[in-house]
Amino acid sequence: MHKTVQLVRSLYTFFVLIGSLALLTRVGGDPRAQTLNITCGNQMEHNTTIFVPNFVATMEKISEQMRDSGFGTAVTGSGPDANHGLAQCYGDLSLLDCVLCYAEARTVLPQCYPHNGGRIFLDGCFMRSENYTFFEEYTGPDDRAVCGNTSRKGSNFQDSARQAVNHAVAAALEKEGYAKAQVAVPGTNESAYVLVNCWRTLNKSSCKACLENASASILGCLPWSEGRALNTGCFVRYSDTNFLNKEPGNGISKGTIIIIVVSVVSSLVVLAIGVAIGVYIRKHRYIQKKRRGSNDAEKLVKLLHDSNLNFKYSTLERATGSFNDVNKLGQGGFGTVYKGILPDGREIAVKRLFFNNRHRAADFYNEVNIISSVEHKNLVRLLGCSCAGPESLLVYEFLPNKSLDRFIFDPSRGKVLNWEKRYEVIIGTVEGLVYLHENSRNKIIHRDIKASNILLDSRLRAKIADFGLARAFQEDQSHISTAIAGTLGYMAPEYLAHGQLTEKVDVYSFGVLLLEIVTGKQNNRSKAAEYSDSLVTIAFYAR
Ligand SMILES: *[C@@H]1O[C@H](CO)[C@@H](O)[C@H](O)[C@H]1NC(C)=O
Ligand SMILES: *[C@@H]1O[C@H](CO)[C@@H](O)[C@H](O)[C@H]1NC(C)=O
Ligand SMILES: *[C@@H]1O[C@H](CO)[C@@H](O)[C@H](O)[C@H]1NC(C)=O
Ligand SMILES: *[C@@H]1O[C@H](CO)[C@@H](O)[C@H](O)[C@H]1NC(C)=O
Ligand SMILES: *[C@@H]1O[C@H](CO)[C@@H](O)[C@H](O)[C@H]1NC(C)=O
Ligand SMILES: *[C@@H]1O[C@H](CO)[C@@H](O)[C@H](O)[C@H]1NC(C)=O
Ligand SMILES: *[C@@H]1O[C@H](CO)[C@@H](O)[C@H](O)[C@H]1NC(C)=O
Repeated sequence: MHKTVQLVRSLYTFFVLIGSLALLTRVGGDPRAQTLNITCGNQMEHNTTIFVPNFVATMEKISEQMRDSGFGTAVTGSGPDANHGLAQCYGDLSLLDCVLCYAEARTVLPQCYPHNGGRIFLDGCFMRSENYTFFEEYTGPDDRAVCGNTSRKGSNFQDSARQAVNHAVAAALEKEGYAKAQVAVPGTNESAYVLVNCWRTLNKSSCKACLENASASILGCLPWSEGRALNTGCFVRYSDTNFLNKEPGNGISKGTIIIIVVSVVSSLVVLAIGVAIGVYIRKHRYIQKKRRGSNDAEKLVKLLHDSNLNFKYSTLERATGSFNDVNKLGQGGFGTVYKGILPDGREIAVKRLFFNNRHRAADFYNEVNIISSVEHKNLVRLLGCSCAGPESLLVYEFLPNKSLDRFIFDPSRGKVLNWEKRYEVIIGTVEGLVYLHENSRNKIIHRDIKASNILLDSRLRAKIADFGLARAFQEDQSHISTAIAGTLGYMAPEYLAHGQLTEKVDVYSFGVLLLEIVTGKQNNRSKAAEYSDSLVTIAFYAR
């Protein structure tokens, strides 16, 4: 009974929230948050204790600027582990879409760690981080064009594309380094669409040099239907498909539109929450714990060291074949997971954290240990950690069937998961979530509920993975709003717009997951969905 009521509540909240997302999607346009390329530098960080906080702080500072202007630079620290960061959204993105694109960029870029630099090109924005000032660089050995794969040979498209590129480059040099263009293909109802954009840190002559190089290199893509130049100082793209967002123009500033969108969204959200609260009687208040001092963390590390939950680094290294790629199970937001076999034959999953900050790992361990000691049947069990070694490793039970996404999005494996089993997976996930939200000692908001974080045991029962991580990795608990974690497509609109964190964030993601389990389709993943509506939007209109 309890289960069903909970499920209905979740669904209800979800569908009310869908309304706001659909609205947001339509007014806000397309964030084009697909990653085109990520290139990591070839130098390593020196000292993790200095590097990681600098990196995180830079991303935070930039985050605030992105919300205001779609562009940001920041420098944190000095010396070899200083962090210089730059991010920019392309000119046709609304600020709201910019926040979305940046949220994706900052989630993916940490993959470069422990390299001390890297750059990521998405279809809607760019981000780069280094240990030196690179803001004025506009050319480099990694500059390249990425071409599409549909040939437009023998059509007038090529001429139109050339014209559009030249036109846009000229226009961008007149303005602030950004322009878009559309040139009709004679005799058809088609057009060539172009976007050119320099980073705002470049002066005019550098921008010119960058755009000239970039446009020359993408025109080399013709006769293909698409070309994108990923240059050190600029981005240029042409396409036969209209990928451009309509800009909020005609006297209304971007800021105004954002305020309208955000206020409409927030009134809907307030309404939703108001209604939901009537149904959803909160039993436990969220008690914000004070941040533990580093002395406590040190003690904890010592305490752990002596407990049977402590694994030796060398044991885990051996168990995973020195983190051999063949043992790699997957890549998550916080680290890479490897399969391992302990000397006694037990199979385990070892998570190697991207950011191995001892204190935070210990902090995390303490929190999760409280939970795992109760051993809820729908939560992946944490067996221990290696928190004191050269890097932080977490040890989980190994689940042979891996994750739910392998089943529901795969036509043949999907058959194994019949309706009855799917129902059980849904109920199991709900029970695990309720447990996280309502356990009296330490409420945990998961923040990254998605198909790949639901693992299946040998009898295909759901177990939630990765809980507690987002919270433990929060640099500063009082600035939750700026540190958006999560996966695009699953994130609740009020969380994206305001960084407002309540357990409803998980309920929303759960709703998206539910749609995916029922339809077998992924919400808004990948390029295939680039120009079509997301599952959530479709569900909204189908109500
Ligand atoms: C890293 O930096 C911290 C803070 O300055 C320092 O205490 C620590 O000894 C350094 N570690 C290494 C390995 O240099
Ligand atoms: C950046 O890091 C590399 C490798 O750690 C180091 O050799 C270089 O001196 C650093 N650059 C600066 C400007 O400190
Ligand atoms: C523009 O910036 C580049 C790179 O920093 C510099 O070499 C060049 O002198 C600058 N040009 C002008 C006109 O300021
Ligand atoms: C990204 O670009 C670099 C060259 O700049 C290339 O070596 C690398 O393979 C590309 N990565 C992906 C994932 O396309
Ligand atoms: C073009 O690329 C897309 C995605 O990268 C792929 O799905 C498609 O099969 C490719 N088409 C051709 C003709 O190679
Ligand atoms: C014009 O566009 C429509 C769809 O928008 C398409 O069905 C039609 O074939 C196009 N006509 C020509 C001549 O390309
Ligand atoms: C653009 O610049 C890169 C790096 O300097 C160079 O290798 C490439 O040949 C240039 N491309 C064109 C079309 O000028």
